[in-house]
Amino acid sequence: MSSNTPVSLLFTPIQLGSLTARNRVVVSPMCQYSSNDGGPTDWHLVHLGQFAMGGAGIVFCEETAVEARGRKSYHCAGIYKDAHVPGYRRINDFLRSHGAIPAIQIGHGGRKGSGCSPWEGYRALTAEDAREGHPPWQTVSASAIPAGDKAPTPHALTLDEIREVVASWREAALRAAEAGYDIIEVHAAHGYLLHQFLSPLTNRRDDAYGGDLEGRMRLVLEIVEVVRGAWPAGKPVFMRMSAVDGSNGLWTMDDTVVLARAAKARGVEVVTTSSGGITGPGTAAPVPRVPGYHVTYAERVRKEVEVMTIAVGLITEPRHAEEILQKGQADMIALAREMLWNPHWPAHAARELQVPDYLDLLPLSYAWWLKRREDIRRVTEAEVGRTVGGKQA
Ligand SMILES: Cc1cc2nc3c(=O)[nH]c(=O)nc-3n(C[C@H](O)[C@H](O)[C@H](O)COP(=O)(O)O)c2cc1C
Repeated sequence: MSSNTPVSLLFTPIQLGSLTARNRVVVSPMCQYSSNDGGPTDWHLVHLGQFAMGGAGIVFCEETAVEARGRKSYHCAGIYKDAHVPGYRRINDFLRSHGAIPAIQIGHGGRKGSGCSPWEGYRALTAEDAREGHPPWQTVSASAIPAGDKAPTPHALTLDEIREVVASWREAALRAAEAGYDIIEVHAAHGYLLHQFLSPLTNRRDDAYGGDLEGRMRLVLEIVEVVRGAWPAGKPVFMRMSAVDGSNGLWTMDDTVVLARAAKARGVEVVTTSSGGITGPGTAAPVPRVPGYHVTYAERVRKEVEVMTIAVGLITEPRHAEEILQKGQADMIALAREMLWNPHWPAHAARELQVPDYLDLLPLSYAWWLKRREDIRRVTEAEVGRTVGGKQA
């Protein structure tokens, strides 16, 4: 590397506990609605595999339910039984063999369960679905408040049931470790069960799990503790939260800082700041969707809580991703939709950021050919340059 070549932070390895990610590109969790009885299919192998082949440092699988009733639809991913483990292990072995760290986001849809996919309008299951073998199921939440006019009314979890839910997160974490994941993320964002406990809009409890911020945070923090306890020492626990939920300031950045600090004290090493979801679809952002629309949240949490953060949200340009890291606004960059558009984004970004040997991010059986093509291109360009130069002389 010449001394003039800029050093890309995006492509500088990052240490996470005992792990080293080869770069700071994270494939953000993306629900696929392609699971079979909660377990992964060949779709997941190819879908996630392409991101490892494209050079990402960390590849997250989608939100994966800790209980069957915690799925959003029958086609959502789960890790609520031991039979799921071998399928995930096969995928994770493949990701690792291509240099990526396999990561899992575990979650529980709560009152947003018993529904359909985005392309079916997230509608709630009906008696007609039951006739086709997909009966609606009883959803659960902090309080018996439905997610919308046509959504089912959830059952408010009792204290005993809360204990069972907490245990299911622990068991899911143990299975995830068994399946070979190296990173686990607690999904506390987007209006799902943990967010339903956090938000005063959905949590009207008058017991220890409701009321003031401390009470509403109790379940999330208990879950962070059991997940941390079940997760191998040295491997990091991440948490995703909705930094603001857009519902008239009921959850603010100040609350986010308090929660991130408490989560860090219980062993969370990385926080992803997303937004929204307590009303409307899980991925609806209440902030204008300009490039990098969550970056300021990641920046504030990083500075005030002194925890590593991931910036996510319409980050598509390599130079923009690099700038966020260079400015100290986040430690890693997550991409979702852009990876669907271009699964080889990391290798392309590395080229744009003048990372030497950027082709080595791709599998050898691609890189070998592409390097030869680059050599030919360089020779051709040099020859053209000489010819043109000769004529000009
Ligand atoms: C197809 C799809 C599925 C998603 N599923 C999840 C999910 O399982 N868990 C989650 O936290 N966010 C999920 N998201 C949100 C993304 O992880 C990401 O935060 C969001 O799309 C913004 O990033 P982007 O602009 O790079 O797409 C999903 C987004 C998409 C497009």
